[in-house]
Amino acid sequence: MKFCKIKVSSPFFLAPMAAITNLPFRILCKKYGSGLGFTEMVNSTHISRKPEIIETLRELRTCKEEKPICLQLVGNDAKEFAAATRLLEKKFEMININAGCPATNETKLGSGAALLRKPEKIVEIVHAVKESTKKPVSVKIRLGWQKNNSPEICKLIEKAGADAIIVHARLAGQGYSGKADWSALAFLVKNSGIPIVVNGDIVDAKSAIDCLEKTRAEFAMIGRGAMQNPLVFKEISEFQKGKEWKASPAERLAVFEEYFGLCEKFGSADEANLKIIAMQFSKGSQGARQLREKIMKAKTSGEIRNAINEFGKKE
Ligand SMILES: Cc1cc2nc3c(=O)[nH]c(=O)nc-3n(C[C@H](O)[C@H](O)[C@H](O)COP(=O)(O)O)c2cc1C
Repeated sequence: MKFCKIKVSSPFFLAPMAAITNLPFRILCKKYGSGLGFTEMVNSTHISRKPEIIETLRELRTCKEEKPICLQLVGNDAKEFAAATRLLEKKFEMININAGCPATNETKLGSGAALLRKPEKIVEIVHAVKESTKKPVSVKIRLGWQKNNSPEICKLIEKAGADAIIVHARLAGQGYSGKADWSALAFLVKNSGIPIVVNGDIVDAKSAIDCLEKTRAEFAMIGRGAMQNPLVFKEISEFQKGKEWKASPAERLAVFEEYFGLCEKFGSADEANLKIIAMQFSKGSQGARQLREKIMKAKTSGEIRNAINEFGKKE
């Protein structure tokens, strides 16, 4: 299967998630069936002004095992996006422009979802990035800032020459409240000449298939569902084969051991991140409150690992 000329093994992609989708996490999701991975967002201003940070920036680490992989850039200036793209594009199969992050630290700079208020700026950025690489370029948006103007924005992005658009079906002002509006996605899919990757509230195999059916999209992206359960990609592929398999809480906890191993292998096992991931994977386990308390109190990565392993044996 091809997505913008990139060979992908599944139409379900892992969403970019800051502080979550580091290299070990992406490898894990790829192993369980994610078709395409996205880096955490990388600041194009920092890259263009201080290219020497490229060598040390953890977010830019990638490897063969996780291919294909898309780099997500965030920023507010077309020239900086272009410079960052030229410096980094060789390592990635696609470049993605973040025009959907609602976090105030980005929007106050005119970056992320703030770009939805200035669609002409998104057009300028798409032109600049397209001129800087031969690799496919996508844009990730929300439905709008305070009201849904995604049909107009998507038309502009398509006309500017982008190869695909990823749409999280909420307004920037909504944060994560309310339900993702899949009917708005269906409208975009129907009226777009380029692939629309649908995103928002896919949490398991049923919602994944349901979302593709309701929106008639070919590709979808999964964020929080994968953050709590990388096995969601396997659940979907099994479902497509006619088998209804759901990872048990114990199986989800067992994945932490794999994550831990990958973090050690790639030298990125910091306690804060391990705690976040351990908390996520333990959601839904019986008696997880005590486990969480143990995780929070843990002082070393070994203690976090032991807490999960001991608890997992009881599950
Ligand atoms: C912890 C977290 C971090 C995120 N970081 C990013 C990011 O860096 N770039 C981005 O485009 N979206 C980011 N998102 C949004 C997700 O990519 C996705 O659009 C959103 O979670 C909706 O999909 P879901 O319902 O499957 O979670 C983040 C979401 C979460 C929960």
